[in-house]
Amino acid sequence: MKTMVYIFLFASALVAQPQGTHYDESKVPEYTLPDPLVCADGTLVTDADVWFQKRRPEIQQLFETYVYGKAPEEPFAIRWTLLESSDQALEGSAVRKQIRVFFTSGDERPYMDILMYLPKQNKPVPIFVGLNFYGNASIHPDPEIILSDQWMRDNENYGIEDHSATEASRGVRQSRWAVDQILERGYGLATIYCGDLDPDFHDGFQNGVHSLFYDQGQTAPRPDEWGTIAAWAWGLGRAMDYFIEDNDVDHERVAVMGHSRLGKTSLWAGAVDPRFSIVISNNSGCGGAALSRRRFGETVKRINTSFPHWFCENFKDFNDREHALPVDQHMLIALMAPRPVYVASAEQDRWADPKGEFLSCLNADPVYRLFDLQGLPAIEMPGTNQPVMGHIGYHIRTGKHDVTDYDWQRYMDFADKHWDRTR
Ligand code: GCU
Repeated sequence: MKTMVYIFLFASALVAQPQGTHYDESKVPEYTLPDPLVCADGTLVTDADVWFQKRRPEIQQLFETYVYGKAPEEPFAIRWTLLESSDQALEGSAVRKQIRVFFTSGDERPYMDILMYLPKQNKPVPIFVGLNFYGNASIHPDPEIILSDQWMRDNENYGIEDHSATEASRGVRQSRWAVDQILERGYGLATIYCGDLDPDFHDGFQNGVHSLFYDQGQTAPRPDEWGTIAAWAWGLGRAMDYFIEDNDVDHERVAVMGHSRLGKTSLWAGAVDPRFSIVISNNSGCGGAALSRRRFGETVKRINTSFPHWFCENFKDFNDREHALPVDQHMLIALMAPRPVYVASAEQDRWADPKGEFLSCLNADPVYRLFDLQGLPAIEMPGTNQPVMGHIGYHIRTGKHDVTDYDWQRYMDFADKHWDRTR
């Protein structure tokens, strides 16, 4: 009996902590971070001009080549149609719009459906935009939200059966989308199912948007070309194209926000598309806000093994070789400068390495100072539930890997501050 208990404990420890994973500060290897303010040829960046003309493009290119992969550069003319709208949504309190954005000249997939809730007053309105994991209908029980027929990961608890959403999936993720509070504070919300851009499984990049851009005879992205995260980020850029055409949206005040894998995505979207005026990462972890070199919680090897489609092929060369990466994730945060960027961690989310997320913010701070801006107003990790907000914002809240009302309230405080909105 005793032996069985031990076997059980041993097995569950293995599940909780994959081999090679550590959660121990004393096991963080010694590392030196690449300096965001030293160019590849040794030039020191001492002003914003050199940053913008030389170092920033260099860093973006390094991330494209070695981490996320390069997305197509050609300008993309979107075509869209309003599928549904109402100015009596949510018991008459809000405007709802559902827009289909097409990516081909025909009406077939891939296309993406944007769901928007806007307050009735104060148009054009600043908005938050973020991708969701289980379809637009999962974010609110509103029966008018169009139920997606796109492939979804099965999840009994969320009513996803045979890879399809069902009526039972309505509102299953509402706790992660503070729709009423967002509207009350005078903001709008737009969301898109990430699977509209690329379903989240490895099929060799046949479904989703990648194949629209293959050269003749090409069947998969090249080693330095976009993986799934870059495709999701590309879709956020196309949503931004739409917002510019929508007079109800204040397109100079669009904050891109994402959680976890979609937080890695919001950071990359903000890095490649400067039209996002605030960038928010919620519990994004490895390949997001957390420093790779710390190897704390999820590592580069682990993420490339479990999710071989998220990053570009070249990133796999850094499995167990984080020290050889020409970038680390503080340089991703720095790519937002001088725009405001917010990183949020959760105490129990050790897999995402909260301290590594904080250290990325801290090490991006010198780039904000080039612009005479206060980057991160902290040199030590702040206490739990004690947000700090300069042009870089950071908090670690109590609780687990999740998006909570507390997180949304801080994001709105941050937006109020930077978009000069008084409450
Ligand atoms: C896994 C993965 C993380 C990711 C998370 C999520 O835990 O290892 O990198 O952030 O899924 O997206 O929920």
